[in-house]
Amino acid sequence: MHIAIIMDGNGRWAKEKGLPRVEGHRRGALKVEDVTEWSADLGVRYLTLYAFSTENWRRPWEEVSFLFNLFVEFMKMKIRKMKREGVRVRIIGRKEKLPKEVVEVWDWAENETKSNNKIDLIIALNYGGRSEIIDAVNRIISENIEKADEDILRSHLYAPDVPDPDIVVRTSGEMRISNFLLWQIAYSELFFVDKYWPDFEKEDLERILEEFRGRHRRFGGL
Ligand code: FPP
Repeated sequence: MHIAIIMDGNGRWAKEKGLPRVEGHRRGALKVEDVTEWSADLGVRYLTLYAFSTENWRRPWEEVSFLFNLFVEFMKMKIRKMKREGVRVRIIGRKEKLPKEVVEVWDWAENETKSNNKIDLIIALNYGGRSEIIDAVNRIISENIEKADEDILRSHLYAPDVPDPDIVVRTSGEMRISNFLLWQIAYSELFFVDKYWPDFEKEDLERILEEFRGRHRRFGGL
């Protein structure tokens, strides 16, 4: 089971409470820890979370740098616990343009947890679905492969061994994909939750999994 989540609504959560936007992100990061635990408990093998998109650079630098710091602090604070609990941390996205410290923590967190196999926590950071496909195409070209097919393209994605998401969740009531995992979600079931990310609860995840079991997936067949 692979669940991918667009963690949306941190800013609105904070605004409604009269708090600075970044406080919403701080609460959102705490939720990342919870959701990882709940997912592992519920038998989810892969959890992909959209933390920073290639479009998020358009935000004020103050917010962008806060998000990078949050990522770094989160990894430094939580890696021991994740290591103990069998979480394998993986990061997908472009390393280019990211601050040196972010790239160092990215490599370190992956390396520290590489032999874990209870759950893969895949963080999409400086990630864009189109960029991922472009990066794959360019690698195919650089390998002098004359003709691509689906298997070849897939094998050049950022995390080729990870199965496609069964479920994509977006919080905050927005109904968009926003350049998330474009190749991989071709047959995913979509769920939209009318709550801001910091308010997402274990019951929400349980309800989604239950509804998913009731949906009949046909993959284009009958
Ligand atoms: C969307 O809310 C959320 C983001 C752009 C950032 C998500 C990041 C985190 C939850 C923290 C990441 C931390 C780790 C450890 C991976 P928004 O700001 O777009 O909310 P809004 O639409 O209400 O403004």
